[in-house]
Amino acid sequence: MTSFLHRRVSAPPTIALRGEGVYLFDAAGKRYLDASGGAAVACLGHSHPAVIEAVIAQLRTLPSVHTSFFTTRPCEELADFLVERAPRGISHFVAVSDGSVAVETALKLVRQYWLECGQPQRRYVISRKQSYHGNTLGALSVSGNEQRRAPYAPLLNSSVTHIDPCFAYRHQRPDETLAEYGVRAANLLEEEIVRLGPENVGAFFAETVVGATAGCVEAAPHYFRRVREICNQYGVLLVLDEIMCGMGRTGTLFACEQEEVIPDLITVAKGLGGGYQPIAGVLLSQPVHDAIALGSKVLANGHTYMGHAAACAAALAVQKTIEKEDLLARVRTLGSSFGNKLRSAFASHSHVGDIRGRGLFWAIELVADRETKATFDPAARLSHHIKEAAQAGGMLCYPASGTADGERGDHILFAPPYIITDNQLDDVVSVAADALDFALKHVRT
Ligand SMILES: Cc1ncc(COP(=O)(O)O)c(C=O)c1O
Repeated sequence: MTSFLHRRVSAPPTIALRGEGVYLFDAAGKRYLDASGGAAVACLGHSHPAVIEAVIAQLRTLPSVHTSFFTTRPCEELADFLVERAPRGISHFVAVSDGSVAVETALKLVRQYWLECGQPQRRYVISRKQSYHGNTLGALSVSGNEQRRAPYAPLLNSSVTHIDPCFAYRHQRPDETLAEYGVRAANLLEEEIVRLGPENVGAFFAETVVGATAGCVEAAPHYFRRVREICNQYGVLLVLDEIMCGMGRTGTLFACEQEEVIPDLITVAKGLGGGYQPIAGVLLSQPVHDAIALGSKVLANGHTYMGHAAACAAALAVQKTIEKEDLLARVRTLGSSFGNKLRSAFASHSHVGDIRGRGLFWAIELVADRETKATFDPAARLSHHIKEAAQAGGMLCYPASGTADGERGDHILFAPPYIITDNQLDDVVSVAADALDFALKHVRT
């Protein structure tokens, strides 16, 4: 019996008792290698002493204050730390409590920016199908994840429209190169801006590397550079959601560094605090900041836990640890090794259609037929069965369905802590291979 409302209401999960490095232990003492870092959160594993000490020290001094009365040192230092390392032109940071709230905050900043600029008609936000930006109603409106949107469709915002994603495995044509495809996919944004009327469009939201919905999908070459050009041409703000792929997950602190574009706003979470405290945030460019600072001078949006001192102390300790231990270089090296391991285990598997990723952010997409890329019957719940089999085998990975088009398709995603070792990555691949074979037998019977 449980009084907690669990995700699977009549099947509460096992109690997790403690974490140690990349491992979690349940109440029965079973050990799990956490290759999904929760939902791509636990970048430093589950027991990093420097972060724990920093949080305890902050809790002893001052857990939190309301931002209408005070600021705090960890809040200021975290903002300085991130802004100093952010792409050129990013000048400010605001911390909130989780990813969806960061996306809501970005949406509100976009709206406020256009109000401050005297262009209130710029009400449309364009985002992409097969994306995820959060579960609160504004963030869900921006999301293109059909399964998560469906129950709430009547409540979602009609000022958001969705274009096709840049998803080469599913959308590149045989008669075009990857780079040509990248430009064609980006040009869909221009078509949509023109259709809505450029003077009515406020922003374009995209995940720099798509996370859970389509499974670690990188943009094709030229895609984001063309997107930036289009946004500049029509005065539309570019918002990159790096809640899952940012903070080092793909090998650079900001994933957009690898795309050579500078967005107007960036949302971050997950690896920001590494799970040691709930924290997320938005980075904004100087022009967005200045529009408010020189206009109404007041941020028209607030939350109780904005700039929470203990959460900021946790995030600052996580980010300083990543830098001190040179973990971004480690993510790049281990990431390419992990990619090779996944390819050697699965590249010729008859039900693995694609293996993709960057840094320590990888997915394998499962297909019924490699030639036609036909998906398994969604009712078979293949990715769910792989996850269950992997967990039984002592390894945690992140399953998702609807990969191909929102309804059909399966993938499993890996987002292990940056402190994982090469040998532990071998263990991840070996348990994943067994789990896949086990789940396929289950699906076929
Ligand atoms: C890209 C992206 N944006 C937003 C969110 C929402 O974050 P949260 O679950 O912390 O509200 C997520 C969560 O998975 C995400 O992956």
